[in-house]
Amino acid sequence: MSAPRHQIVIADTAETYLCGEDETLLKAMERLNRKGIPVGCRGGGCGICKVQITAGDCLRRRMSRAHVSVEDEARGIGLACCLLPQSDVTLQVLGQLRAPVLAAQSRWKT
Ligand code: FES
Repeated sequence: MSAPRHQIVIADTAETYLCGEDETLLKAMERLNRKGIPVGCRGGGCGICKVQITAGDCLRRRMSRAHVSVEDEARGIGLACCLLPQSDVTLQVLGQLRAPVLAAQSRWKT
């Protein structure tokens, strides 16, 4: 039996996608097949996939404190490659992930 899937909303673009409880937000986001979305180490080390969870709950795998401080974590900031949704989630893209996601959105509208 597969793990429950939850709806993920990218607040910046109002785009939605489904993500299972047993996969990371980044892995499911990659299925959107958007060109230009950067994917780095997929292991919480490079910090390229930074997001802020504004609604919902995620299981958090270990991630580098060089990229996510204790204060960041308290504000819902994390690395999408280390976050597994446990409910429907709304997120905002941050850092190096932000420009490509917003650029992709403007390409969809043309
Ligand atoms: S891809 Fe490297 S921290 Fe997420």
